[in-house]
Amino acid sequence: MDTVLSGIRSTGNLHLGNYYGALRNFIRMQHENNCFFFIADYHSLTTHPDPKSLHANVKEVLCEYLAAGIDPEVATIYVQSDMKEVIELYLMLNMHAYMGELAKTTSFKEKARKQPENVNAGLLTYPTLMAADILIHNADKVPVGKDQEQHLEMTRKFARRFNNFYGVEFFKEPQAYNFGEELIKIPGLDGSGKMGKSEGNCVYLCDEPKVIEKKVMKALTDGGPTGPNAPKPDYIENLFTILKVVSTQDTYDYFDEKWNTCTIRYGDLKKQLAADIIKVTSPIRERYLAISQDEAFLHKVTTEGAEKARESATKTIRSVREIMGFKPF
Ligand code: TRP
Repeated sequence: MDTVLSGIRSTGNLHLGNYYGALRNFIRMQHENNCFFFIADYHSLTTHPDPKSLHANVKEVLCEYLAAGIDPEVATIYVQSDMKEVIELYLMLNMHAYMGELAKTTSFKEKARKQPENVNAGLLTYPTLMAADILIHNADKVPVGKDQEQHLEMTRKFARRFNNFYGVEFFKEPQAYNFGEELIKIPGLDGSGKMGKSEGNCVYLCDEPKVIEKKVMKALTDGGPTGPNAPKPDYIENLFTILKVVSTQDTYDYFDEKWNTCTIRYGDLKKQLAADIIKVTSPIRERYLAISQDEAFLHKVTTEGAEKARESATKTIRSVREIMGFKPF
């Protein structure tokens, strides 16, 4: 069984795009692998978050993942800062990470441009901490988006370098977890190709049904098809793409036929779309509300998660210390 590690940014508000893009695959994958999910709160420090909101952010993400279906009985879910072993590995890996390679990482250059007043060492060594997250469990696979591929490549480089330097075959070189065909891209409601938080075109998993209705009703449309079997403009195709995912094939075919025969009423399409999105998100939202009030449950999940994660981390750190030459008296 492969060990799979998923690192989750500690900014909450998962949307439909996250759900169909990754989350649903995570939920499936947790049964087929030895899965670790962790919330990367140390990483969030690079932007100096307000101490009052740090915990709230972690809690939000934790509750959303649990609500969406990550099962703490099946997978290990923990908060990064609850497993301090990772800091020790971070320190060790930093001794073999070079200024030049860190400074030319895309994410570093981007952040340095965005926050020129706060180009801190944590930002520079972000990839080493991420490598430590992965290597501390000697993960075989890591699901990553495009923007994280370079970090994973650096992780492999750090693993290889460590092995070569100390003449061991200790760290595995983690590979990207590929969901392949199953990866569904959810477009925005504003005609754009992608649903994204910064694009401001999202339906969030925890949106109230009324909010979802409003958002869908406001989606970009036009005066209707220009003739029988006319090609759909992008913004209409987008609505059909979402419909295909949340509705039944029959419903999809019904509206497709309506489009092709120029008898479509966008109001009906949107009502159906909103109703079917709500059908998918409502159970998640309801679980979210229940879980976020259940402090005892959250305490149990995070303590047990940290315990399991530390068990795996301690093993790694013990070996790494030995390989590097640390010895007890
Ligand atoms: N850098 C990742 C992101 O921004 C989050 C992350 C931190 C991560 N450590 C990780 C992802 C380890 C995978 C593995 O999304």
